[in-house]
Amino acid sequence: MRAPRKKPTRKIAPDIAARLSHRFSLQMQPDGNIAASLGDYSVNLGQFSEAAMDRARHLSAGLPLASFAGKSILAREIDALVHRLARQGLLEYRLSSSRDERDLVVIEPQVPDYWPRRARLGSRDTVVLSRFAYLRRRGNEMVLESPRAGALFRIGDPAIAATLAALSQPRKIGKLNQKIASSTLHLLELLLDSQILLKLDAKDGQGLRVNEGDGNLVLWDFHDLVFHTRSTEGRQANPVGAAFTYAGVVPPSPAVRPPWAGSKIDLRKFSSPEPNSRFPKLLRERHSTRDFDDKNPVTLGELAQFLDTAARVVSEWKSEPYFEGGSDVTYSTRPYPSAGSAYELELYLTVANCDGLARGLYHYDAGSHALVAISASPQQLQAHLAAAQFAMDAPGQPQILITIAARFGRVSWKYSSIAYSLILKDVGSLIQTLYLAATDMGLGGCAIGSTNIDLFAKMTELEFHIEGPVGQFALGRGRTPEVQG
Ligand SMILES: Cc1cc2nc3c(=O)[nH]c(=O)nc-3n(C[C@H](O)[C@H](O)[C@H](O)COP(=O)(O)O)c2cc1C
Repeated sequence: MRAPRKKPTRKIAPDIAARLSHRFSLQMQPDGNIAASLGDYSVNLGQFSEAAMDRARHLSAGLPLASFAGKSILAREIDALVHRLARQGLLEYRLSSSRDERDLVVIEPQVPDYWPRRARLGSRDTVVLSRFAYLRRRGNEMVLESPRAGALFRIGDPAIAATLAALSQPRKIGKLNQKIASSTLHLLELLLDSQILLKLDAKDGQGLRVNEGDGNLVLWDFHDLVFHTRSTEGRQANPVGAAFTYAGVVPPSPAVRPPWAGSKIDLRKFSSPEPNSRFPKLLRERHSTRDFDDKNPVTLGELAQFLDTAARVVSEWKSEPYFEGGSDVTYSTRPYPSAGSAYELELYLTVANCDGLARGLYHYDAGSHALVAISASPQQLQAHLAAAQFAMDAPGQPQILITIAARFGRVSWKYSSIAYSLILKDVGSLIQTLYLAATDMGLGGCAIGSTNIDLFAKMTELEFHIEGPVGQFALGRGRTPEVQG
């Protein structure tokens, strides 16, 4: 019998310390409760012993991870506290110089479950930077980021930036090792764990595009993966949504563009005051509905009709291979337009309240016009629906939340540079189709601009770069009856 394979070692870095985000402070209550607070906002972290409270005070300067890696009661308490802070996004991690306590690198988690781990590197290993990694100026700092990484790295030492630049080509650690400090080696191990660095096998050659990740990753252009992860929630810690960040600096643009100075041809005399056919009437009636009648939810029959009208595959066909030796490419026709007839968009339904259909997550199989149940936890369903309610500032949850997910590779297999933008354009045309189908049926709907790609990945167990959310649409029966013509 074969001996069980050893798990790869993922050591805690000895010189890494967890530090409370500088905007927050810890409030120690007399009853042992600890809360992290920022102005009026406060997060309770639970009850702790006096010794743990004393130790927790060091979190504002930095508490070495190794100091609570043991099995003592105190270490376990601190470990629990630090993990709670981490899940709330309130921690960063500093890698300091052993000589002068300077921050060499500060790690800012971007996903809720990031934890700094070192993936072991030996002197014979060859590493190279991921093609998705980038160094850029943020404020007065230099940051190293990648859409694949669960954290970004603030680089405080120009010598580290120089080492990173050298890693644009594959390098053997043994050769680097003679020149770099041990803390830099630890950093490289952290970067390897975060997929900012790649370890190359002999067969991986120069570590170019085809050597990094699966086929689905190979198809992503750099800017598209950055755009996807930085314009959605779940894999970044930046503010998302209506934050009005520069509203005090730049005035708002007017609702209607000021006219050009040229001569004007008035079109009003050609238009009738009332819509004279069903289509303009439908367009005028369409509006967003955010308040749903939960005593009178959408029925399964209505949902079936809605999906049939807006999203069902109407026919399928195939084309000859695009190049010699290639395979046939299959296509479908659906009720809305799609760039290159790719029809890469999939509908996932989070059902909260539908007469005849159990609460849960479903995939709409547009080819066979069927719903297929996907197991997702009650907590995930609740988080997904609550986020939609929040995004709409609605009094309740949508009856059905439709997540529009893209099979990215279906488009990027063909198109360079424009793949992701084509996908978003397709989302726009599908959303209008969903709005019009709902309006026509006397149902209500509302597009939602933000999506959490990390939550969806957890719910479906699909990797975020293979198939993921690019839009959402809330559907239900409006509390106020919709006009139906
Ligand atoms: C791409 C897109 C994203 C939207 N995101 C949101 C959203 O996150 N929350 C929301 O309440 N409404 C959202 N809406 C709805 C708009 O607010 C709405 O279409 C707009 O106010 C015009 O109102 P009407 O749809 O009733 O005509 C979105 C609409 C679109 C097209």
